[in-house]
Amino acid sequence: MSGFSIGILASGTGSNFDSIAAAVADGRIPATIAVLVCNREGAAVLDKARARGIPTAFIDHRAFPSRAAFDAAVADALEAAGVDLVAMAGFDRIVTGALLARFPGRVVNIHPALLPAFRGAHAQAQAADYGVAIAGATVHFVDEDVDHGPIIVQGAVPVAPGEDASTVQKRILAVEHRLYPEALRLIAEGRVRIDGRFVRVDGREAIGDECLVSPPLPPRPR
Ligand code: GRF
Repeated sequence: MSGFSIGILASGTGSNFDSIAAAVADGRIPATIAVLVCNREGAAVLDKARARGIPTAFIDHRAFPSRAAFDAAVADALEAAGVDLVAMAGFDRIVTGALLARFPGRVVNIHPALLPAFRGAHAQAQAADYGVAIAGATVHFVDEDVDHGPIIVQGAVPVAPGEDASTVQKRILAVEHRLYPEALRLIAEGRVRIDGRFVRVDGREAIGDECLVSPPLPPRPR
């Protein structure tokens, strides 16, 4: 059990949740998942958390008069669980300053596109329809603009002309499942620092050997 504690926000299937929980369980991420907060009753992610013995909190956004009121309740649940980091994994609500101010620089998200391209919903279909040759996913810090904060890691996948959106979506999801645990590992290890628009990662050039997932930087000339 590690002292670093993650709270996850999710609304749906929870395949990213599961990839993170698996990485925590096998020691790749030196952390614990203190709580899963979900806003959709009956979401599959709730069952996935229960199956792993991870505490869950169901908070229905429709029970609140405003986004800020909902966010305050979510922040209360995260704070009560003592989380150090909030990871949004398929959370279908836009978060506001009411939550972000409670976890400054400590909220991250995964978006299924190579930001800043294709922000917002249906990013994979937008990329496929646009005719891109390379699509991908981004893990980034969250600020008050949607899909905008400083980028931690990105992963790329190829797209063939005319491929349908569901094929592209599956390929991106597979890279998400590698990317998000990697980003959370770096943060849990205390190696990640926000520097304006940039995210600095200690020892970044030493990790990763796959050319399509945030390729390691070439050694600096001396
Ligand atoms: C993922 O594609 C994620 O990037 C997006 O929503 C999807 C959630 O999938 N924000 P899952 O619930 O993790 O399976």
